[in-house]
Amino acid sequence: MAFEKAKNHSLVLKEKLKKWNYEYYVNDNPSVSDQEYDQAMQELIAIEQQYSELITIDSPTQRVSGEVSEKFNKYVHTSPMLSLGNAFNYDDLIHFDEQIKELTGLSEVEYTCELKIDGLSISLVYEQHLLVMGVTRGDGIIGEDVTVNIKKIKSIPLRIDQPNLTVRGEVYLSIEEFNNINEERVKNGEPKFSNPRNAASGTLRQLDSAIVAKRNLNAFLYYYVNAAQDGIQSQKTALQRLEQLKFKTNPEYRYCPNIAAVWVYIQEYGSKRHQLGYEIDGIVIKVNNLNLYNRIGYTAKNPKWAIAYKFPSEVVVTNLLNIFPSVGRTGRITYNAIFEPVLIAGTVVRAATLHNADFITERDIRIGDTVQVKKAGDIIPEVINYVAGQRQIKTPKWQEATNCPECQLLLERVDGKVDQYCINSICPKKITRGLEHYCSRNAMNIEGVSEKIIERLFKLGYLKSFSDLYQLEQYRSKIIELENFGDKSFENMINSINNSKNNSLERLLFGLGIRHVGKKTAKLLARQFKTIDNLTTIKIEQLAVINDIGSIVAASVVNYFATPAKQQELALLRKIGIKMEYIASNQHLIKKFENYRFVITGVLSKPREYFKELFESYGGQVSESVSAKTTYLLAGSDAGNKLVKAQKLNVKIISEEEFKQLLNKEE
Ligand code: IVH
Repeated sequence: MAFEKAKNHSLVLKEKLKKWNYEYYVNDNPSVSDQEYDQAMQELIAIEQQYSELITIDSPTQRVSGEVSEKFNKYVHTSPMLSLGNAFNYDDLIHFDEQIKELTGLSEVEYTCELKIDGLSISLVYEQHLLVMGVTRGDGIIGEDVTVNIKKIKSIPLRIDQPNLTVRGEVYLSIEEFNNINEERVKNGEPKFSNPRNAASGTLRQLDSAIVAKRNLNAFLYYYVNAAQDGIQSQKTALQRLEQLKFKTNPEYRYCPNIAAVWVYIQEYGSKRHQLGYEIDGIVIKVNNLNLYNRIGYTAKNPKWAIAYKFPSEVVVTNLLNIFPSVGRTGRITYNAIFEPVLIAGTVVRAATLHNADFITERDIRIGDTVQVKKAGDIIPEVINYVAGQRQIKTPKWQEATNCPECQLLLERVDGKVDQYCINSICPKKITRGLEHYCSRNAMNIEGVSEKIIERLFKLGYLKSFSDLYQLEQYRSKIIELENFGDKSFENMINSINNSKNNSLERLLFGLGIRHVGKKTAKLLARQFKTIDNLTTIKIEQLAVINDIGSIVAASVVNYFATPAKQQELALLRKIGIKMEYIASNQHLIKKFENYRFVITGVLSKPREYFKELFESYGGQVSESVSAKTTYLLAGSDAGNKLVKAQKLNVKIISEEEFKQLLNKEE
């Protein structure tokens, strides 16, 4: 076909396919047969193969072609993706409503109720009418660029009738699709996905986009970012505008003139939820009037103008077969229940936590009882209580363990706490659990070193500490002789262990298992102090002044680094070549803030960490106090001493708005 003719024909085909696509995937109302659709698609593919210059980024062919990525790039959200506070009952809801009435001075507040789709949230960025970016939520500040995969979701428009837009929503899998995928997986001998959300999440983060194209992911969009700036007055009109732009919105939403109407909606969908064809885990209630949002405001994590009502968890009954204690890496004893398998919220469950001994004795739960089990937050199975009236008369009372199930040492209750602890620092289980934690995905991310392998190598005496991991090479000949272990798996394990030497500091900090230092705190510390040396010499007072680090965490960190055994282990790790520095994860190529020093103060629209990360990603430095060397003071409202000092020293003071302009200014 001659080029001009091919070009015109491709335009016609693209328009047709786009229209049919919308009819089929958004409106559920196709006007042509599948064959007609496929034929047009094949024609377009053929033309694009002949003239690759005709492939545009919004071509419908982009939804079916596959490509393999090595990994996904990081993306800093232009406005953070917040989560929502929860309401579990009527009282929580009334409290939410009253708080808003107080903050706005209104006597009645209007709401929009929406279904809380149980999927994973995404953010879509359109520039010059085109979808240029599809990002996962990540930690809310930085997400992953999964644009190639997002394009495979056929209900998401690749081009819209508006130049710019950031819109957010939920990617999900219908229950039917979820079952299809699992059937296919069983056929291929692959493990099943446990629920539609996991399946959707696993699919969206697939590196091979051809697989994504085959699984019919879908998306409901519900959040028009900066709607008020675009002249939209309410959530209801925002949703209508999204519909007009041909996005798939959830049809079940409802305008509610007051909180009483919200409660009616919740009741209604509490019973309708299983007939929807997709899973929901609650109802999202949003103040309808967008102009009130700023007045109502935000907490550190959540907007105060919306709340998520969570449906009560499903409760089932089963027979309790056994109760046994287990010891964790901190020595804490948890009790577990084994019962006859039951189906809860879509999965078969055989075991659940009973927390601590007090939990069991207070409820007088006994082995042999009929018990009620639920999934807390619909994730972790939990025993609630036994069913009175179904107990056999002679069922003996349950007795708590007195000795550690692993090392047999006497258990202790520390500082009058409810939990029992094994305080033996060489308890084998504490050591292997600590190693497991060190290797885990969020810590040093060492693949191929499972719980089983750790326990085997520990028993053989090859692995007792973190540093031993890096010296396993010397046992190569013995390890590859072990059952289910060969040259290849040994090689993979060693590679993965060695790769972990180059991790950024927060992974090590988390992996060390310092008490009270979770993933988030580890990141905060790494960002703030940059190297482990800066941390080992820190004083409690210096730590406790940092936002989000309380005195308990501060004391625990200082105590950890002051312990001789820990110091020795860290020295060994250093000798082995473990990097102990923070590596900023999202780096921009153009270091437009190189040699700039920033100080941040006052109340800003987003957490300070967000701005810090942003400055640093452009090569800037952020410090705590203003000096003559400070380039800019980014000042929010209620700025105090730092502002005064900056004025005195003639340091340039910028607002958030000016900062944005600075960031967007072309070099
Ligand atoms: S609004 C700033 N609306 O629930 C408010 N969220 O717990 C943004 N979700 O992260 C959220 N359906 O992944 C909103 N109709 C809906 C939703 C919804 C599901 C998810 C979303 C969010 C989480 C909040």
